Amino acid sequence: MSESNEKKNKNHRLIVHEVSKFYSGKSRKFKVLDHKSFMFQTGEFYTIMGESGVGKSTLLNIIATLLPASSGKILLDDLEISNMSELEKSNFRNKYFGIVTQESNLVSYLTLEENMFLALELCGKNTESRATVEKYLKRLNLLHLKDEYPKNLSSGEIKRSAIARALVKESNFLLLDEPTANLDSKNTKVVLQLLREKANEGIGVIITTHEKEAVEYADQKIYLDFCENAR
Ligand SMILES: Nc1ncnc2c1ncn2[C@@H]1O[C@H](COP(=O)(O)OP(=O)(O)OP(=O)(O)O)[C@@H](O)[C@H]1O
Ligand SMILES: [Mg+2]
Repeated sequence: MSESNEKKNKNHRLIVHEVSKFYSGKSRKFKVLDHKSFMFQTGEFYTIMGESGVGKSTLLNIIATLLPASSGKILLDDLEISNMSELEKSNFRNKYFGIVTQESNLVSYLTLEENMFLALELCGKNTESRATVEKYLKRLNLLHLKDEYPKNLSSGEIKRSAIARALVKESNFLLLDEPTANLDSKNTKVVLQLLREKANEGIGVIITTHEKEAVEYADQKIYLDFCENAR
């Protein structure tokens, strides 16, 4: 069995345990997440919804280990990842997560295709065939743009490129912040259908979204509310 199939066939649980987050703004200190606990499994599709400012990106970034929680833990199965060093977290992310942040950061001096190969290299899959990259670029209607630099892409194309880059790693969990923002209805369907397929193949898919249509594709829906002292 190839390493990627072996990894995908393993069941994993991503656990958010009693996570709280405080922010200090210029004129306010406020709580965004208050003792939140969730369990995400491979092979399931989760949507995180709620009003703008409620803390969806904050939660996703904490799960992705890109942002520290004020208290609480993140675990993969029995392994606590929230207390790892920055280097360990980075290695962990490369191995287990495909991530799209709200800003969809692509490397500006690399073409779209080179961005995809960099993602593969960072997770130790530089020998994977060009065909995997082409498969996702084609599926997301991006193949004709593979030699373009990010500055020449529209915001919807950048969003789809960031999704393609997360997918190409074929990691255990996909953590995507508003993957259908800036997309027309045709591409919204393309992305949601593709994410549904990935969940069916055994990947854990977690997205934040304002897209009502997304809930039709999801196995579990999470709604966040404002904390009492948040506004
Ligand atoms: N680094 C920060 N410092 C201070 N406050 C922050 C910081 N990041 C986010 N916030 C605040 O925390 C709250 C939650 O932000 P977050 O980005 O998680 O919301 P969201 O639910 O993703 O919103 P949207 O739907 O608009 O993307 C907001 O009030 C935001 O202004
Ligand atoms: Mg957000």
